[in-house]
Amino acid sequence: MTHGSSTASDTSGTGTDGDAVPVNRYASDSAWRAVDDYFAAALVGEDEALVAARESGAATTMPNAEVAANQGALLGLLTRIAGARRVLEFGTLAGYSTIWFARAVGPAGRVVTFELEETNAAIARENLRRAGVSEQVEIVVGPAADSAQALVEAGTEPFDVVFIDADKPSNPRYLEAALALTRSGAVIVIDNVVRDGAVVQADSADPRVQGVRRVVDDIAAHAELDATAVQTVGVKGWDGLIVARRR
Ligand code: DHB
Ligand code: MG
Repeated sequence: MTHGSSTASDTSGTGTDGDAVPVNRYASDSAWRAVDDYFAAALVGEDEALVAARESGAATTMPNAEVAANQGALLGLLTRIAGARRVLEFGTLAGYSTIWFARAVGPAGRVVTFELEETNAAIARENLRRAGVSEQVEIVVGPAADSAQALVEAGTEPFDVVFIDADKPSNPRYLEAALALTRSGAVIVIDNVVRDGAVVQADSADPRVQGVRRVVDDIAAHAELDATAVQTVGVKGWDGLIVARRR
């Protein structure tokens, strides 16, 4: 009753761009959306390039899966707090979080981002160009595990921040790759680790849930990783993030 009708709240467009239609497809309480809209409008300040990148997410093979505006800002802040110069991202889609990372590392920094689908990469390239960060970002098209292995074999300079946000069943492999491509002090963030609470179902038949549970076990068992997980509600429904740091 405190939230009013979900229809009015969901379409009233308190966001900075005044959209009449919710830009995110995830089931989400109107009160959660209102709070996300409030903080995003007050604190986040997406520019036109970020708004365009977010909206173009609808045209990717995983529509509207990009992080929320306040989550993108968190990724950018973590990157700056870590003093990161090099960021590795698993899962580009339209490049929304990629832009946050690229701006956080600045003109002298580098973001390498893995994307399976060339059609998504093409959308991302345009978004990166509009955001003025094309020079700092390399999109590598193909299966992320192969792309990561190629970086390991090439003896690529270690990354300071890794964001794992691609196909969830592969989370354990991506963590392994992240560990091969980082050193002490690195920050590793994993998206979508709650999935409407399904993460607690040990016997879940959903390979995405099992991909999260296995990576949680791997992190817990790793002597060099300090980590926590935080569940979130907002425009993307009920979900959450793992944040880990390599000792
Ligand atoms: C899904 C993937 C994401 O990265 C996300 O943020 C939300 C949902 C998905 O696989 O459905
Ligand atoms: Mg995600």
